Amino acid sequence: MATLKKTYPYYLANKPVAANIDLEVFDKYSGKRVTRVALADGKAVGKAITAAYKAREAMAAFPPGARRKVLEHCVRRFEERHEELALALCIEAGKPIADARGEVTRLIDTFRVAAGEATRIGGEVLELQISERTVGYRGMVKRVPIGVCSLITPFNFPLNLVAHKVAPAIAAGCPFVLKPAPKTPIGALIIAEILAETDLPKGAFSVMVCSNEDASQLVEDERVALLSFTGGLIGWDLKARAGRKKVVLELGGNAACIVDADPGVELDEVVKRLVSGAYYQSGQSCIGVQRIYTHVDVHDALRRKLKAAVGKLRMGDPRDEKTFIGPMIDEEAAKRVEGWIAAARKAGAKKLAGGEREGNMLPAWLLEKVPHDCELYRKEAFGPVAFIEPFEDFDDALAAVNDSEFGLQAGVFTARLDHAMRAWDRLDVGGVVVGDIPSFRVDNMPYGGVKASGLGREGLRYAIEDMTEQRLLVIRDR
Ligand code: SIN
Repeated sequence: MATLKKTYPYYLANKPVAANIDLEVFDKYSGKRVTRVALADGKAVGKAITAAYKAREAMAAFPPGARRKVLEHCVRRFEERHEELALALCIEAGKPIADARGEVTRLIDTFRVAAGEATRIGGEVLELQISERTVGYRGMVKRVPIGVCSLITPFNFPLNLVAHKVAPAIAAGCPFVLKPAPKTPIGALIIAEILAETDLPKGAFSVMVCSNEDASQLVEDERVALLSFTGGLIGWDLKARAGRKKVVLELGGNAACIVDADPGVELDEVVKRLVSGAYYQSGQSCIGVQRIYTHVDVHDALRRKLKAAVGKLRMGDPRDEKTFIGPMIDEEAAKRVEGWIAAARKAGAKKLAGGEREGNMLPAWLLEKVPHDCELYRKEAFGPVAFIEPFEDFDDALAAVNDSEFGLQAGVFTARLDHAMRAWDRLDVGGVVVGDIPSFRVDNMPYGGVKASGLGREGLRYAIEDMTEQRLLVIRDR
């Protein structure tokens, strides 16, 4: 049976540092302290940036084949440590064990795809002879690593959202400093432990939890070329402080799903997918289903089936294989969602399913008639709550999806090709998923949002584009 270690070091310039073992990490279900983690101070963060800056040339010169081998080593070690990683997620994030195992599988996929991409970073030959003046000139473009990357990750996918920053940085040949979420640092520290087994150039990586104040160096230091942040709307403030860096932001949303008059799949399957999208890992996903718009022809049946399914979801210990709803990350988060539900109900929303909060355990909630000016309608809930609303005209449903400050992904169940195409044309989001929920993600697809949801795309190839610059070569041969 896998267990957590008593303490975890942070990693500075590829090496473990077991100093200031001050950060306590708690089991999110039992509330008990399970391990302690070394906390980096401002000086250590500065040293990590200096080491990464010095490692730029060595990382750029580290051959793509060697980068691929590093990533393949990680894949092998993740496979060997699969159950330990899943248990770490289950404990530190309160993620139900089935979801935790799924995340480890995705971590492996993400590194495996990155290993392939490491040797596919190609270039372009340009035709420059476009007029008499340019006869005899040839152009070529290659991609070179951008330099030091600051990577900041959230609590909700402690492995795979780390993977989406670390793996492309290695593939692209960029040294990096990663700050994982202080509530869930273990996944990232195990990844760092495995990276320390490789022959990455000295200083190529640091992984350290630090205070937000000390992390400001990761945002502001001019030696850092790219900041990649996943988290809340605070990301826009970080961007404002980032100076000349390239900035990639993945900031979530209040994802919507349309169920058309003919959804194209059985209603029972639609319900299964909606329940998964809205409530897996207690809705703590940037693409969790929050708003469900259903055509009047299917509304009553869907409402009835969904209500029954949500009412049956089993809440409890995330280690129990049968648990679907585990704890939220902390009581404060659960209270916030509870407060938004209460405010919506006070304003006229009706409960279809739901129950009382106990500490950080919030049962799955389903509502209807949620007024459009409520926080529950307009903001990102990031909790186990969704609401349902009928529509008559497909265009009105598209308008409702777009009536949001966010735009990450949207789902559309429809059998009509014209509706699918219209959704793709008109929905103001980073990705439209037809025939499934907005929560669908495969790790090699471009993933990111528009409007308040962010800037740039992850998904290995797309992250590597951000982590590299184009460098042009012009040759005059006549
Ligand atoms: C996120 O919550 O930002 C990521 C969702 C996912 O990778 O499935």
